[in-house]
Amino acid sequence: MLLGITGGIAAYKSAELARIMVRENWQVQVVMTPAATSFISPLTFQSITNRPVGVELFDTSAVSRAKHVDLASFPEVAVVAPATANTLSKLATGMADNLLTSVLLATEAEVVLAPSMNEGMYHNPAVQDNLQLLRSRGFFILEPAEGELACGVEGRGRMPEPAQVYNAARDILEKNKDYTGVRVLVTAGPTRESLDPVRFISNRSTGKMGYKLASAFRERGADVVLVSGPTNLTPPEGVETVLVESTGEMLQEVQKRFSRVQVVAKAAAVSDYAPQKSENKKIKKKDSLSIELRSNPDILKNLGEQKAGQVLVGFAAETNDLLQNAEGKLRAKNLDLIVANDLSEEGAGFAGDTNRVKIIRRDGSIVEVPLMDKLEVSHRILDEILPLLQEQ
Ligand code: C5P
Repeated sequence: MLLGITGGIAAYKSAELARIMVRENWQVQVVMTPAATSFISPLTFQSITNRPVGVELFDTSAVSRAKHVDLASFPEVAVVAPATANTLSKLATGMADNLLTSVLLATEAEVVLAPSMNEGMYHNPAVQDNLQLLRSRGFFILEPAEGELACGVEGRGRMPEPAQVYNAARDILEKNKDYTGVRVLVTAGPTRESLDPVRFISNRSTGKMGYKLASAFRERGADVVLVSGPTNLTPPEGVETVLVESTGEMLQEVQKRFSRVQVVAKAAAVSDYAPQKSENKKIKKKDSLSIELRSNPDILKNLGEQKAGQVLVGFAAETNDLLQNAEGKLRAKNLDLIVANDLSEEGAGFAGDTNRVKIIRRDGSIVEVPLMDKLEVSHRILDEILPLLQEQ
């Protein structure tokens, strides 16, 4: 849990909030804006949470490479309580002028905001527009309560009681654990087919989609095995990662685990062909060279034939006739879902951090997922897999 505290009088209530979270055995990392330290001391939070409190963005004593990046990857959920009009405005525009706003800009965790301010400020159209925008971007906004405000008037603007803020954060954490105990196998990356000791045939897959998919399953509580071809990516935290090179090795590793898993998501771009034979000495340079290729086994098709209750998810990257080709593969490989991405579209497909996909179900219905970060796309795919899992 990352607990962000901004400069409002309700900051004193967050000491109680931090205490509740610690009592529930959460690991709580507090980050305060410089203004918040005028209302309550960082030492208060440090004593409650047993962790140093982050305030300074540029701190030369910090050993980490970039404090805001490290802090951003820490939480499963971030709560900003109280959230002032000033911080809401910065979050809405993407301003990152202190440690807290920088962390929140960089984090992939869900963020709960507890606005707290004078009633006039709260009802100001500028604040309401910012809240609307933040809501549409997926921030969870806790409505402020009505009652006596610190400025002496009655109205809406009070930060909800610490127990209510805690409940909201807990609900999000629990909702996010809807894959608890589910055993999942994900494949990612390209495969390499050896020509000789120095050369291979491969493709442009970077593995990003599969790695994000594995992270999304893990975040939601699944036990995940990731079978990955060669990539430059760091294996996701908490995921058992098995590194392979060739399609043959991938097939072996997947087959070994198939009967023990409930979901298989095959995001790997498996080489369709391999050289008929791999030379054990480097092939010498000649004027021309012909290489005979043979078809590789289709791993997913094999799984489709052996399927015994598992949910099988395939990926189809196409440059033309996207839906028709993808639906054809769904049927030919006996899949439950296929995720189709159009390689000709800007921002979609292999190398980037974003993707725009269409998820096709067995009944032919299609869920269109707009252009978004690959982790977000992964969560949409997980949302589609879950009901299928419950049907099995
Ligand atoms: O290559 P194709 O477009 O048929 O890939 C569709 C799906 O089949 C992908 O999920 C891919 O991981 C899987 N596949 C496979 N083994 C192959 C080729 C593709 O598992 N040899």
